[in-house]
Amino acid sequence: MVLDAAAATLARQPGSVDRLVRLTAADMAGVDRLITDRMQSDVPVIPALAEHLIAAGGKRLRPLLTVAAARLAGSENDHCLKLAAAVEFIHTATLLHDDVVDGSQLRRGKVAAHLIWGAAQSVLVGDFLFARAFELMVETDSMRALQILAQASRVIAEGEVMQLMRSHDLNLSQALYLEIIQAKTAELFAAAAEAGAVSAGVDAERSKALRDYGMSLGLAFQLADDALDYGGATETLGKNAGDDFREGKATLPLLLAIARSGPREAEFWERAIGRREQTEADFRRARELIIGTGALDATLDLAAEYADKAKAALALFPANELRESLESLADFAVSRRA
Ligand code: IPE
Ligand code: IPE
Ligand code: MG
Ligand code: MG
Repeated sequence: MVLDAAAATLARQPGSVDRLVRLTAADMAGVDRLITDRMQSDVPVIPALAEHLIAAGGKRLRPLLTVAAARLAGSENDHCLKLAAAVEFIHTATLLHDDVVDGSQLRRGKVAAHLIWGAAQSVLVGDFLFARAFELMVETDSMRALQILAQASRVIAEGEVMQLMRSHDLNLSQALYLEIIQAKTAELFAAAAEAGAVSAGVDAERSKALRDYGMSLGLAFQLADDALDYGGATETLGKNAGDDFREGKATLPLLLAIARSGPREAEFWERAIGRREQTEADFRRARELIIGTGALDATLDLAAEYADKAKAALALFPANELRESLESLADFAVSRRA
């Protein structure tokens, strides 16, 4: 049931990834069973809150990456299923925490959990899901996979804190912005792919290639996400467009628009982001400036560059259907609407 929702979300996307979904369907059904099974607890609020978010679907991109990387690397065992479920639990935990931190109201098309159960419950259930992820990893008996995903969990937290320290900073450099999105988002994509590769027992060169693929894919994904916050629609995103602007998050579309603005606009950015004085109409103006200055397109261009880099990382694998579908996934990360 949960998987169907995820597959349906993916199939609606342009630059479709339905071939990847089809190739990994049997594995992902197993991942889905693990997720449903391991989100259970005798403490009733835990499965209720977890189910609220998990049953809403989500794209399941990161676990897809783990199983696809494992199979591309020649794995014939099922360790990748547990690692994939762990990866999705880590992701889900960060979403619960992130929505509290960002004060977001909508997630996966539903009211954010913290608005129903409160911030405290939401954070604690996030901790529960993190712990479940580590239980699953330990079951695979792979110290290397454990190390990769433990590092990713630490780096995500660092990225989220770094971003928090830099919100409302109109002078954030592009280099630091990239460092932040690499930590908060791309690291988990990289770890998801690398852990899958490691579970296949593949050589260092190939596991590094899959890690590089995941890293570039993750950067493309977050750049597109930051563009979608201005160029996308709440209905398809399942989260509110404009959240980044209202929070004063210094994302690349905003930073580029600021750099390309004249003095009149500079005053607008200083008030709305720097001094945090916003009116209802400000988001529309910000959006117009970001589109009008070409900042949105430039962000998507950079995302497309990372997507190409991701595809190039796969060159040392046989040019089979699975590799091709992972190449399409890189395009999807940029062209997606949800
Ligand atoms: C949301 O990730 C968090 C970001 C890194 C932007 P996804 O867009 O993959 O979220 P779901 O799992 O599909 O809801
Ligand atoms: C994404 O953060 C990364 C994590 C959740 C760790 P964002 O705050 O940019 O993502 P959305 O827009 O809430 O999905
Ligand atoms: Mg957020
Ligand atoms: Mg955030």
